[in-house]
Amino acid sequence: MKVTVVGAGNVGATCADVLARNEVANQVVLVDIKENFAEGKALDIWQAAAINNFDSRVIGTTNDYTKTAGSEVVVITSGLPRKPGMSRDDLISTNANIVKSVTEQIVKYSPDAIIIIVSNPLDVMTYAAYLTAKKPATKVFGMAGILDTARYKAFLATELDCSPKDIQAVLMGGHGDTMVPLPRYTTVGGIPVTELIAKEKLDAIVDRTKKGGGEIVNLLGTSAWYAPGAAAAQMVEAIVKDQKRVFPVCAMLNGEYGMKNIAMGVPVKLGKNGIEEIIELKLNETEMNLLKESEVHVKTVMDVLDGMKLF
Ligand code: LAC
Repeated sequence: MKVTVVGAGNVGATCADVLARNEVANQVVLVDIKENFAEGKALDIWQAAAINNFDSRVIGTTNDYTKTAGSEVVVITSGLPRKPGMSRDDLISTNANIVKSVTEQIVKYSPDAIIIIVSNPLDVMTYAAYLTAKKPATKVFGMAGILDTARYKAFLATELDCSPKDIQAVLMGGHGDTMVPLPRYTTVGGIPVTELIAKEKLDAIVDRTKKGGGEIVNLLGTSAWYAPGAAAAQMVEAIVKDQKRVFPVCAMLNGEYGMKNIAMGVPVKLGKNGIEEIIELKLNETEMNLLKESEVHVKTVMDVLDGMKLF
């Protein structure tokens, strides 16, 4: 079982580390365009095997995609991260070209791979990879919802001084400030969160979640990696172990939620076939309006992609 992670930067290397540590795949291939970089990161992760007690093999390569051949799942993290003051959307012109050429290489050597996009602007990069890969939408999708939901859960756990493990939540929409956390679908040990946290506090947590990526960029001067890398690895695990887990994932929509030809965060079931089901929640009017606002935002970034005439 081979899993490839393209991009050996912070997010990609963290993802490869989690995949190896948790023995999600027995072969993890890390690819980067920067000479010797993936080789170095892979060697460092592999040298931790005896300490962290895993036997997944980790190898790195400088852009030699023959080494990725036959991968079951590929995670694409390539592209520039954000700097303070930038929105994810500012990255489109650079990252769209990168995601397109990486996806072409992946499809050439691993035609059956399921592809998970992590590069930003996430929703539109997922759309670009889908157009490039020419695979069913069930096999090309993006990671954002698990990360955004994990941030939401972290803030709730801090507020309630409870374990994040006991929090269940759904978050939908684009991976940007218009994302839609859903308090009505949030529980803590089975108890509706609205019974545990006052409305103003909950509103503040929802707002902080929406800007969660930017908060890290402002603190670090670059974007986050521990949570994004772990989130992508969790999706890989659900696929390779056929777990049928229910996660929010950036999926190409074909009429679900009344939306078409757009990739956005929705709850799905993930298993060995990739997206095995898109779950349609019965959103109320307020929630649906927020989702539509998010759709409008993602579409404005898709227009920029269209203007680049890559497809
Ligand atoms: C974030 C970036 C990875 O949300 O989009 O941290």
